[in-house]
Amino acid sequence: MEERLQKYLASSGIASRRKAEEYILDGKIKVNGIVITELGTKVNPEQDKIEFEGKEVKKQERKVYVLLNKPIDYVTTVKDQFNRNTVIELVKSVGDVKLLPVGRLDMYTSGALILTNDGDFIYHVTHPKHEIEKTYTVTLRGKIQNEEVEKLRKGVTINEEEEEYITKPAKVRILKIDEEKNISRLEITIHEGKNRQVRKMCEAVGRKVIALHRSKIGNITVKDLKIGQWRYLNTKEVEMLMK
Ligand code: URA
Repeated sequence: MEERLQKYLASSGIASRRKAEEYILDGKIKVNGIVITELGTKVNPEQDKIEFEGKEVKKQERKVYVLLNKPIDYVTTVKDQFNRNTVIELVKSVGDVKLLPVGRLDMYTSGALILTNDGDFIYHVTHPKHEIEKTYTVTLRGKIQNEEVEKLRKGVTINEEEEEYITKPAKVRILKIDEEKNISRLEITIHEGKNRQVRKMCEAVGRKVIALHRSKIGNITVKDLKIGQWRYLNTKEVEMLMK
């Protein structure tokens, strides 16, 4: 059956659909020996030989979805140019499948991170229009004020790719204020994924982030996983995220 080249590449697990489109535009994909740079090109994987950087791209049948409770000090990438620890090392025991992270967590952020070999899933879940909620526990220096919480709720101006961006309304609640330790803990739920968004939001109200943990993606929580542990997502969870 014919399908669009970028969709096939994503379903084969080499990359997300967006990344696959980049590979096509960059001339990295060959179909039957010919470099294809046209995004809409249709292929028939039963008959056509599709190659990425000289290697044949075979269909990957078993789709795997893993939820990791990421520790700090691990980078959300497949291979790190500075040889730092990567999240992929933590899910090695899944076996012989090429997992890719769904979105990213900063090196110093812990918590819920999904990894999969399903490029369509990555495309869907990371697309801003699907507005999947992500919930974070943030530990801040000092005693948070109600006005600051209100500002975080309404939206604050952050810097995003050299431009000013006003964050969308967020759910924010105070979990704890420890005057002795001089820290406050908030739960912040957002449905956007701008780079370092939660840290930048807190900085925008003048607070320094001491620790950041993603507790939930949608309603999928990592509270039953020890830090560094992973589990498979069940079908219901996958379906819920694909809605
Ligand atoms: N916001 C951040 O600042 N960092 C993350 O890792 C995720 C959300």
